[in-house]
Amino acid sequence: MPPRSAQQKPASDHPLAFLTGFLQRPKEVASIIPSSRFLMRRVVQGADVAHAKLVVELGPGTGGSTRAMLRAMRPDATLLAIEIHPGFVRLLRRTIDDPRLIVHEGSATDLAAILRQHGLGAPDVVFSGIPFSQIPEAVGLGILHAVQDALAPGGRFVAYQARDRVEKLGRRVFGRPRVQLELLNVPPMRVYRWDRAPAR
Ligand SMILES: C[S@@+](CC[C@H](N)C(=O)[O-])C[C@H]1O[C@@H](n2cnc3c(N)ncnc32)[C@H](O)[C@@H]1O
Repeated sequence: MPPRSAQQKPASDHPLAFLTGFLQRPKEVASIIPSSRFLMRRVVQGADVAHAKLVVELGPGTGGSTRAMLRAMRPDATLLAIEIHPGFVRLLRRTIDDPRLIVHEGSATDLAAILRQHGLGAPDVVFSGIPFSQIPEAVGLGILHAVQDALAPGGRFVAYQARDRVEKLGRRVFGRPRVQLELLNVPPMRVYRWDRAPAR
């Protein structure tokens, strides 16, 4: 029996919350509706979480992506969700009741300090819906370097984006990604995956 999160409200229960978040902080939210379940299925499959003990989500928004990941995760795994928008943080804390979830209000640029603050080690998976094409390049690069430094050997980083800015920046930090396209989302999204080499 999965923990309670799997049965909780889908993201589509909060369409106005997402739109409100966008109107308040358009550059950081960058979309007026949450990701589709088709996109989330692709991201979850791409993240390959069956054996992951620690997963980090960057930019959970209203939590549709968070719920999808929790449904796929092991019962003893942990999901640290880092969200910069205080309204989304409140909503996530109110609507997802799952002992595996830690919701942290802050910026993905501070990933190392946030992991330390919660006494967590190196994540096996980091996944991100942060709109790299809308945020300053230096911030985007800072986030990618923070992910690179944090990931466990053999870990993976999955980012979904409509534009290719994250790919361009990601190539500078991690090298060449694997790319998939999900058409059943508004707008259609690319899903990028980078793997960190396993320990020798
Ligand atoms: C396009 S929305 C994705 C929301 C959700 N994951 C989904 O797929 O529907 C981008 C999210 O990233 C968050 N965000 C933007 N910059 C961030 C940062 N530096 N650190 C953490 N979250 C950030 C926004 O507040 C927003 O919730």
